[in-house]
Amino acid sequence: MLLSRERIAERVGELAGRLTSDYLKRPEPPVFVGVLRGAAIFLADLIRAAPIDIATDFMSISAYDASEGQSGVVRIVKDLDLDVSGRDVVVVEDIVDTGLTLNYLRNALEQRRPASLRVVTLLDKSARRIVPVTLEYVGFEVPDLFVVGYGLDFQGRYRNLPDVLAVHDLARLINDPGLLQRDHQNLNVRC
Ligand code: IMP
Repeated sequence: MLLSRERIAERVGELAGRLTSDYLKRPEPPVFVGVLRGAAIFLADLIRAAPIDIATDFMSISAYDASEGQSGVVRIVKDLDLDVSGRDVVVVEDIVDTGLTLNYLRNALEQRRPASLRVVTLLDKSARRIVPVTLEYVGFEVPDLFVVGYGLDFQGRYRNLPDVLAVHDLARLINDPGLLQRDHQNLNVRC
């Protein structure tokens, strides 16, 4: 276990506190943009810990195509419903890894002329960064390991785990994709 639910809750509270003081006096509520699907759980906890008016919207981005290498070619699968021009926008991400997705998203959103654009990510796997991206709010720096839980998935599984687990032996998980669910239920450790 990399991050327990208690540690996550504490850090989410701290981030919400910073966001609250940074956006409290703005003329219009900020628009928090959750990047589907991984950030949905983080966004839900974050906005409930921030006692200010917040508008929410969601975007979904296709993963970049492995056949094109790490070209950063992604596309918007679900776009925003709100017009964000002139609004304060806060992109809510689960994890920033290579930075390719967020780099694309930042550029796409900048073109809509928001009043401001900032990013809050729960996890930052900076060791794997390919494109430098600005992250205004970071929950936790994580090592170069595949992580699941609290919104993050492996082949569509594990988003509902309340803790974040790090996968040390990815080959074992590929062979037995349900492995962590069983292991996790037996874990008494809280770190
Ligand atoms: P990027 O490499 O920064 O473009 O990250 C793209 C996406 O890959 C993230 O938004 C996550 O959905 C996913 N991702 C990256 N690292 C992990 C991980 O360790 N676990 C689960 N998903 C990940």
